[in-house]
Amino acid sequence: MSRIETDILVLGSGIAGLSFAIKTARQLPDKEILVLTKTVEGESNTRYAQGGVAAVWDHEHDSFDKHIADTLDAGAGLCNEDVVRIVVEEGPERVREIIEWGARFDKEKEVDMYDLAKEGGHSESRILHYKDLTGWEIQRTLMEEAKRYPNIKVLEHYFALEFITQHHLGHMVIRVTPGIECYGCYALNKQTNSIETLLSRVTICCTGGAGQVYNATTNPVIASGDGVAMAYRAKARIENMEFMQFHPTSLYNPAGENPSFLVSEAVRGHGGILKTEEGEEFMQHYDPRLSLAPRDIVARAIDAEMKKRGTDCMYLDCRHLNEEDFIAHFPTIHEKCKSIGFDPMTSMIPVVPACHYTCGGIQVDEMGRSSIKRLYAAGECSGTGLHGANRLASNSLLEALVFAHRISKDVCDKFDSWSINNKVPDWNAEGTMDPQELVLITQSLKELKSIMSYYVGIVRSNLRLKRAMDRLYLLYKETEELYKTSTISPQLMELRNLITIAYLITRSASDRRESRGLHFTTDYPDQLDFKENSIL
Ligand code: FAD
Ligand code: SIN
Repeated sequence: MSRIETDILVLGSGIAGLSFAIKTARQLPDKEILVLTKTVEGESNTRYAQGGVAAVWDHEHDSFDKHIADTLDAGAGLCNEDVVRIVVEEGPERVREIIEWGARFDKEKEVDMYDLAKEGGHSESRILHYKDLTGWEIQRTLMEEAKRYPNIKVLEHYFALEFITQHHLGHMVIRVTPGIECYGCYALNKQTNSIETLLSRVTICCTGGAGQVYNATTNPVIASGDGVAMAYRAKARIENMEFMQFHPTSLYNPAGENPSFLVSEAVRGHGGILKTEEGEEFMQHYDPRLSLAPRDIVARAIDAEMKKRGTDCMYLDCRHLNEEDFIAHFPTIHEKCKSIGFDPMTSMIPVVPACHYTCGGIQVDEMGRSSIKRLYAAGECSGTGLHGANRLASNSLLEALVFAHRISKDVCDKFDSWSINNKVPDWNAEGTMDPQELVLITQSLKELKSIMSYYVGIVRSNLRLKRAMDRLYLLYKETEELYKTSTISPQLMELRNLITIAYLITRSASDRRESRGLHFTTDYPDQLDFKENSIL
């Protein structure tokens, strides 16, 4: 067993984790910032972002008030208006910073102006992007900038298992215990296969989303909700987990692939039109904003049309668009379509909804502080109040930048008041052995994803949710038995974390007796006047 002591522990090397690390390394040059990442530094949801970063840039046509109104409208009454204002107003400054660090965003031809794109739910064009590879460009920039600070140390192939709190010192900790504190985390060093004790003065959770709880998702396989599940087990407050966002247009690929390839909403912003197999438009039956209505509406419309017609996908028609322009804006999408055998300039793109974004997460205040002392959360694993019941497209990269900055400020202000807790014991692996049959883990994961996809997907009902809960309980019991007797592996931990995530989604969905934003149930199709966040 090895023990590592560090000043600041960051879990995750996506936009939230790295931008926090960079900011803090500048402010506290003599403090060590240790960034753990469970595979390689560059693998994250961030890396796959296509559309871009929403920020008010063109003050002639756009305004903070318009961006705020669009965010509130998408959030269906559950956004925290103060947080929305903070993110929208501070956002452009944060974007400017990553531009200074080297992020390239596309400009219009022949004028020194950013080429601002439009996506669903936005009343103006305000999305800065780098072709359809915005996330790749941001991840590259942050990794290069982080390398400039000798006090940032990135540990790859380190899988965080549990946050360490008073519970690990033998104290009774229940959900309402006041003053729970985080002293770091236990993590599996995947290269040595040993569990290490990482002690820190403060911990920032930036572990991203949980899309892998569904069969079809645009999220890479690292997105297994680890941070949210760990925080729930550590008795942090978790909010709004029923609001899982399905992106309307992932590429339908009969060969199946995990993750599903995204066809950016920016393609619809660029003029792509949703159609039936016969080439008929259908969005006029659902929303006056047609193909650019907010995501929840478009995803439900596609789902309803597919169910009505008994088809596996609907279509996105780009055949009327200028080929050169399309390829310049969407080179990756164009290439991907070609790689699976069709040309999007001559054939319609088959599309299907896929789980895309976790709107809820670890509840934090306006400085990113969770309900556990010395534990902050930023990015997709956090519930800041920005998204409410539905996230506005391209608001998440912005949210991560703004909250990473705010957390950095709070951490720098408070840093001297924290110290390392040396009383923490090492991980106890007594009585465990290598699981004899890995099939128990792989099959349970398949079952879990099916339960969530069929019973807790885009459309829900009391019966489906009850059935999901019963099945989940069985999987939970079996997996906890396995966990108690087996040596820890990433596969087992991801399964365990995803079962917790599935429980949080299903439980919050069952408690919500209305339809709002991303949560739609046939038993309560209307939205109530009374607005409430779900807190578990
Ligand atoms: P991530 O970038 O996912 O990083 C999470 C990090 O945590 C990873 O480094 C991972 O290895 C690490 N980690 C996780 N668990 C553990 C563990 N147990 N131990 C150690 N490390 C761990 N948003 C927009 O605003 N605009 C877009 O255009 C856009 N397009 C998108 C397209 C796709 C295909 C996808 C999937 C998402 C898109 N999003 C977009 C959403 C956005 O990319 C994410 O919300 C955002 O990047 C999340 O950043 P993050 O730093 O919170 O997490
Ligand atoms: C997209 O490009 O459609 C994704 C944008 C987002 O998820 O914010």
